[in-house]
Amino acid sequence: MAPSRSVSEPAAGPVPRGRRLHPWPVRIMHWINAVAMLVMIGSGWGIYDDSVIFGFLHFPKSIRLGSWGAESLLWHFAGMWVLALNGLGYLIYGVVTGRFREKLLPIAVSELIQTVRETLRFKITHDDLTVYNAVQKVLYIVVILAGVMQVVTGLAIWKPVQFSSLVALFSDFQGARLAHFLGMAVIVGFLFVHVVLALLVPRTLWAMLTGGPRLDRGPGHAPVGESR
Ligand code: HEM
Repeated sequence: MAPSRSVSEPAAGPVPRGRRLHPWPVRIMHWINAVAMLVMIGSGWGIYDDSVIFGFLHFPKSIRLGSWGAESLLWHFAGMWVLALNGLGYLIYGVVTGRFREKLLPIAVSELIQTVRETLRFKITHDDLTVYNAVQKVLYIVVILAGVMQVVTGLAIWKPVQFSSLVALFSDFQGARLAHFLGMAVIVGFLFVHVVLALLVPRTLWAMLTGGPRLDRGPGHAPVGESR
């Protein structure tokens, strides 16, 4: 039987010499993704306002992208291609290089509960940048899945005739539209928490810009990720 791994131990074999915490493809794709998401959210609000789902909810002009519905739609379609292609690249990279397995798994329920408790008491520490805590792992997995769902529900409401089987997954067109809206709400909620946490621990922001610490400091040294 294979020996069990500790939470902080990388899962994907030996660490290549000199590899950084956030290799350049991850950084480039992350920031393209962040901009594309903001375009999708702002333009989505513009399209929504043309025909609202909830009568009480309208988005003010100042936070919408596009001065009227048709213009917002153009922004939405432009952002869609960037998000879908860049997102696909990120998914393939995460799976092929083993990054998802290494960074996002496993998630220990006990650690999740403990981290939630500490966060609620504002005890937020992120001493070792190379290891995501259980809450971060869950949030990243949720937002990655939400991004995939947005593309699926987006396709369903963009071409409901051609993708009628996708529409059927959500009962009907309005169901797919509601799911698309709820996916946006999940991503906006994630973004709020994500940006607040990044600003509270600015070292993480710097690492996402510059690559962060090297994971292998040469012969005789353990990767930083195992030093906890
Ligand atoms: C909706 C847009 C965004 C999404 C979907 C997103 C998603 C993610 C994901 C999935 C990761 C993990 C990446 C990996 O290790 O492979 C990550 C990391 C990170 N993101 Fe974002 N992000 C977004 C926007 C932002 C923004 C606007 C900022 C700037 C404040 C930011 C700052 C960071 C930082 C600093 C990390 C590294 C966290 C750490 O090392 O603890 N992200 N993001």
